[in-house]
Amino acid sequence: MSIDPETFQVSIEKFSSRGYGVGYVARPQGKAIEVEIAHTLPGDLIHMEMRRKMRPPRKGRLLDVLEPSPQRVEPRCSHARVCGGCSWQQMDYAAQLETKQALVARLFDCPTQPIIPCEEPFAYRNKMEFSFSENRAGQKFLGLMIAQAEPYVFNVDHCHLCKPWFSNVLNAVRSWWESSQILAYHPARDVGTLRYLTLRGCVHTGQKMAVLNIAGRSELSLEEREQKLHRDFVRTVEEAVLGEEIAVFLRIHDANRGKPTQFHEVHLAGPSHMTEELRLSEKTLSFTISPSSFFQPNTLQAEKLYSAALAQIAHFNSPMIYDLYCGTGTLGMAAAAMASQVIGIELSLESVQDARKNAERNQIDNITFYPGDVGKVLTELMGQPTFQRPDVAIVDPPRSGLDPLALHHLKTLRPKGILYISCNPLTQVANVEELVEAGYSLRSLQPVDQFPHTYHIENIAYLER
Ligand SMILES: C[S@@+](CC[C@H](N)C(=O)[O-])C[C@H]1O[C@@H](n2cnc3c(N)ncnc32)[C@H](O)[C@@H]1O
Repeated sequence: MSIDPETFQVSIEKFSSRGYGVGYVARPQGKAIEVEIAHTLPGDLIHMEMRRKMRPPRKGRLLDVLEPSPQRVEPRCSHARVCGGCSWQQMDYAAQLETKQALVARLFDCPTQPIIPCEEPFAYRNKMEFSFSENRAGQKFLGLMIAQAEPYVFNVDHCHLCKPWFSNVLNAVRSWWESSQILAYHPARDVGTLRYLTLRGCVHTGQKMAVLNIAGRSELSLEEREQKLHRDFVRTVEEAVLGEEIAVFLRIHDANRGKPTQFHEVHLAGPSHMTEELRLSEKTLSFTISPSSFFQPNTLQAEKLYSAALAQIAHFNSPMIYDLYCGTGTLGMAAAAMASQVIGIELSLESVQDARKNAERNQIDNITFYPGDVGKVLTELMGQPTFQRPDVAIVDPPRSGLDPLALHHLKTLRPKGILYISCNPLTQVANVEELVEAGYSLRSLQPVDQFPHTYHIENIAYLER
């Protein structure tokens, strides 16, 4: 049986849920075959290849654009045809915005506020993670996943979504690695050392951070690590940023089957954390960011996101606010000036520690943070005699949305207003439907473009009881 790919001419008709183009290959008998092809747009007529025997969901590979969609533009990046990071760089930015806004309106079956665009749709990311990977021949790769071929990695030599220093460090670390004997970590076989390189930068303060993520049970002993890996890695990174100050860390992933992964951070050089500002319309807040703590990945858009979100609850008079899934407490601290009291709940202990320092740093004394799972912490708090119900709940959960216990508590607590910020409108709409059934009305939808050139959408839904 031949498994050679066959080639087809296909019109792209829509986007898949991953932001790739979808077309249909006609069959002499039976239903046409649906195929997803990375880096294509509705309206494109393309030439592509596909293995006919492939099981659904079928993936095609773009060979040529025969007739471009009117929304097609020349991508800025030479990796655009390969990279799994940007799926929409070949799409005009105004069309990206229109598509995202229309998607939210369709999902919620309700008009939205005009999407808030990103003024500079390149070099906006303040955090990138580049994976280490090796093929069977021992060839080394440090970069991003190949579109539709995850977890295969290709060598990224520049990325236009972040500042140029990210690419300089990335290339320097790859050269260092290529000249070393250190192996990439292989998850299936649980062997090797290097997992991924995290780079973080601050827009307003210019501060930088590099974190080398390694496997706990690696072939290097801690002592050897200290001597070789630490010194060489630090030197490589410092040279790549031309002697500018940079916080350098090692983050050890200690994974044991059946147990949660333990992380150990080793501070190797430079400052022990970064400090970033959020310049909001009311005031500027300043934040400590440590290697593991969450910070919105697009700082300038986070400022717009927070201002737009808080404008929705400006009519409350000194409300009691719960900031659920609060990360390093940024949004809760931004809301503190209008609130009588803010309660922040967050799973990551490191983020809560940062949040507490951040509250002190910004002289905010009407905010309290609790570490732990939102549902479980709420159960505990609700059992205390001093418990105070929220007037407003801000929720900003991960992509999976609100878990059943958190949603249950939200319905029991019945805050007057719920400000629901989400990076996944699919789970958001399902949660909002439940809240509407429980007596809430959806008052407004505000999409914000946090991630230009990707299909990701940030959306603020405001509900009132
Ligand atoms: C999208 S981030 C929001 C962070 C914050 N609101 C901000 O704007 O910076 C989601 C946060 O939820 C936290 N998280 C995930 N699952 C959680 C859970 N079950 N309980 C509490 N926090 C959780 C993550 O650690 C992460 O910090």
